Amino acid sequence: MRIETLSVFPEMFEPVMSTSILGRARRAGIFEFEAYNLRDWTHDRHRTVDDEPYGGGQGMLMKVEPLAEAIEDIASTGPHPHTIFFTPCGEPFTQRTAERLAAHDRILLVCGRYEGMDERAYDYADERISIGDYVLTGGELAAMVVADAVVRLLPGALGDEMSNVDESFSGGVEGGLLEYAQYTRPADFRGKGVPDVLLSGDHAKVDAWRRANAIERTCRWRPDLIEGAGLTDKERAFAQE
Ligand code: ADE
Repeated sequence: MRIETLSVFPEMFEPVMSTSILGRARRAGIFEFEAYNLRDWTHDRHRTVDDEPYGGGQGMLMKVEPLAEAIEDIASTGPHPHTIFFTPCGEPFTQRTAERLAAHDRILLVCGRYEGMDERAYDYADERISIGDYVLTGGELAAMVVADAVVRLLPGALGDEMSNVDESFSGGVEGGLLEYAQYTRPADFRGKGVPDVLLSGDHAKVDAWRRANAIERTCRWRPDLIEGAGLTDKERAFAQE
């Protein structure tokens, strides 16, 4: 997969894209990465990428011409990049979105700054993504969140030590429920123990405990997920207790 970004702060990406699992996957050729500087597509002395909004109002908007020219030039270097614009007005990003994006050969992540973009720039977007209901100073962090979530899904990215691990062990929201609690040594930490069942060696009991724990945690922290989590009637009754 090829991942490209277009922004006025291309230097923000390198530390994230070259560290830990992303860095290893990149060096292994699992994905290629390039960060473009939007200012390279300006034609004035000041390399201007923003301007005042028509109709007045606070803040500056990103101009359409540099964005359009940049996206056209980048796209002309190969197959059409699936082009994503980051904005709090986009569709909410989820694990399902990451899975869908991981199937593309080439994605271009376009990051806004300032108060937004000239609406005509969005004609170049295949989709608009928001990473949550809050406003960031720019789309770069959102692009890194998406790149991270996508790269770890690429075959080989998590390495041999994790490749055989059941996907439900990967943390977060899987199978519609929050992940169950996990523990490692020591079995006693300052008087706090570990649930006995996890030390029992009885795999069926461990699985049952984990399922119940995932339901309990989801009820407590993300009750909005319970409805779509595909619980059995018995589990549903348990969730209502
Ligand atoms: N740009 C600013 N805020 C954002 C958000 N929440 N998601 C995606 N892009 C953004």
